[in-house]
Amino acid sequence: MRLSVSPSMFAPFALVHIIILVSILLLPLTQSSTLEKNGNGDLIDQICKKTPFYDLCSSTLHSNPLSPKTDIKGLALIMVNNILANATDTLSYIEGLIKQAPDRKMEQVLAFCAESYIPVVKYILPQAADAISQGRFGFASYCIADAEKEVDACDKKFSGVVQPPLSDRNDIVQKLVDVATSLIKLLLKG
Ligand SMILES: *[C@@H]1O[C@H](CO)[C@@H](O)[C@H](O)[C@H]1NC(C)=O
Repeated sequence: MRLSVSPSMFAPFALVHIIILVSILLLPLTQSSTLEKNGNGDLIDQICKKTPFYDLCSSTLHSNPLSPKTDIKGLALIMVNNILANATDTLSYIEGLIKQAPDRKMEQVLAFCAESYIPVVKYILPQAADAISQGRFGFASYCIADAEKEVDACDKKFSGVVQPPLSDRNDIVQKLVDVATSLIKLLLKG
């Protein structure tokens, strides 16, 4: 005897199958924005590919033992705290240079840079870190842009100087800031 399957019996199963199929098809779409770890290398490499400085991003995040494996917010926070450490070091380097400035002009430019870095280190980056922790990514993005402006202003002061003493350090901070900007953009996209 043949088993007869009437359409009315089959229909509910088909619907379930369609729902499962559609869910499976949509799953990668809903997950792509959060970039969950999916076997194509780790999250750090995946997100660093979306920044303008892959090597700097990857080495900075990989070298921090606290880097989370699965969470972009945590990685963005580590990046901002790394910029803070780097900028703090640059500020004390500038203060050292001011003391031994060869001439008045150089002393003034260095003092200008110290004044650019002080708010970055004292307020702007700590505020950016707080904003990321609290999920206020729009404000974090604003703070990071502000930090970038300050460092750019310092860097421009050396135009015409033959051996600008801060160009390497400013360059690193600017690149790290660009990386942080990209990470925060990913967070803003959700
Ligand atoms: C600043 O960043 C550069 C590049 O990653 C690194 O070589 C340097 O050691 C950092 N300085 C501090 C104080 O974190």
